[in-house]
Amino acid sequence: MKNTAKLIIGDKEYKFPIVEGTEHEKGIDIRNLRLQTGHTTYDPGLANTGACESSITFIDGEKGILRYRGIPIEQLATHSTFVETAYLLLYGNLPKKNQLKDFSSKFTLHAMIHEDMKNFFDGYPAWGHPMGILSSMVCSLSAYYPELEKIEIPKKDIGTIAVELISKVRTIAAFSYKKKMGEPFVYPRADLKFIPNFLNMMFSSTNRDYKIEPEVVHALQTLFILHADHEQNCGTSTVRIVGSSWANLFASISAGICALWGPLHGGANQRVTEMLEKIQRNGGNVDKFIQKIKNRDSNTKLMGFGHRVYKNHDPRAKVIKARATALLEKLGVDDPLLKIAIKLEEAALKEDFFIERKLYPNVDFYSGIIYRAIGIPTDMAPVMFAMARMAGWVSQWVEMRETPGMRISRPRQIYTGETERDYIPVEKRK
Ligand code: ACO
Repeated sequence: MKNTAKLIIGDKEYKFPIVEGTEHEKGIDIRNLRLQTGHTTYDPGLANTGACESSITFIDGEKGILRYRGIPIEQLATHSTFVETAYLLLYGNLPKKNQLKDFSSKFTLHAMIHEDMKNFFDGYPAWGHPMGILSSMVCSLSAYYPELEKIEIPKKDIGTIAVELISKVRTIAAFSYKKKMGEPFVYPRADLKFIPNFLNMMFSSTNRDYKIEPEVVHALQTLFILHADHEQNCGTSTVRIVGSSWANLFASISAGICALWGPLHGGANQRVTEMLEKIQRNGGNVDKFIQKIKNRDSNTKLMGFGHRVYKNHDPRAKVIKARATALLEKLGVDDPLLKIAIKLEEAALKEDFFIERKLYPNVDFYSGIIYRAIGIPTDMAPVMFAMARMAGWVSQWVEMRETPGMRISRPRQIYTGETERDYIPVEKRK
């Protein structure tokens, strides 16, 4: 039987249906595994586990393919905008002219956060990590916008909810930067589009105008599109897992921000810049650094390299590298870290250690160089990632909640602790 998998345990044979996606990805449907066999699966890191069906993003890691709603990422990065891409992710199709206009105008309408929330920033020290602040602030939004908690999920509301969140997160990110710099907040402007508005809130001041360079907008636009979604990664799975308990959207996304913060995930862009700075401080010797990794010296990793799914190349990294080089050239910035990054990549790609393990630059390897050129602090790089990922997270959260028969996420375990033993009173313990 073509669409059935057979499993033999001892002298018994069990059959399980095979499910197939539109791109012919195949999975063994083991929903009844435990019921039928009394066994569970054991898959640490969930590397072989399909936890949901999704029609949002497709990745073929072997071929280096990434598509949002069927459209190749390279085409979106060249022709689209972040706002348009967010619409595509949310609604499934590219917007018509009037739909895009209406959608874009909502970003302006919902850019403000409740005035009282400004006081929250006073509670954080200037050195507080902006991802911690962002996560707390997003969770706090649920207190100020309780009506958004009660999403009945008719499709017409989703765009507004997504826009509210994405737009407010942009304001929160810029305000947290201002707080860190000890400068007054700059409010969002109705006449500026999504990315220029963000740059203005970040870098203009009462006594300083900020000239919004089209090249900078273009570079950020590309980064935001490339970061907007990436199917069931650690952050997105977290959003889905938290949301599967019917936790509200803000709580779910706040948890996603925390997951993304990790250095093995979206926090890697910050770590890449720190790694490159360290190599620079130590004289710029990339071969010595590679040797350190090969020797497994204190678990050193080449940050921004390797991926759970991509085993050929990460298509996003290619685009970002080209954008980083072009931006620095246009701005006339001579960043020694870009040279070190290029040397490091070239050296690593020649080494058997990386070739055998199929380790290539990922989305985080060159993005930090772009943020540096723009003047965005190193520790804010994961925040930039999170701002863009909002579009994917809301889309994935909604898809999860709309799935018929959606169940709470509740994995099993293989218990390896003590078997049953008696309680011993404290005076008798040896
Ligand atoms: N530097 C050195 N060695 C590495 C690296 C790296 N960046 N990545 C993987 N390896 C090695 C592992 O040590 C392992 O070696 P072994 O088989 O000899 O034990 C082998 O390659 C396989 O790696 P795993 O850790 O099993 O791969 P996994 O899929 O679990 O992890 C991950 C993927 C977390 C991305 C990993 O490659 C990594 O830590 N990279 C660096 C951090 C990073 O850039 N993260 C961002 C990823 S993109 C994103 O999340 C947005």
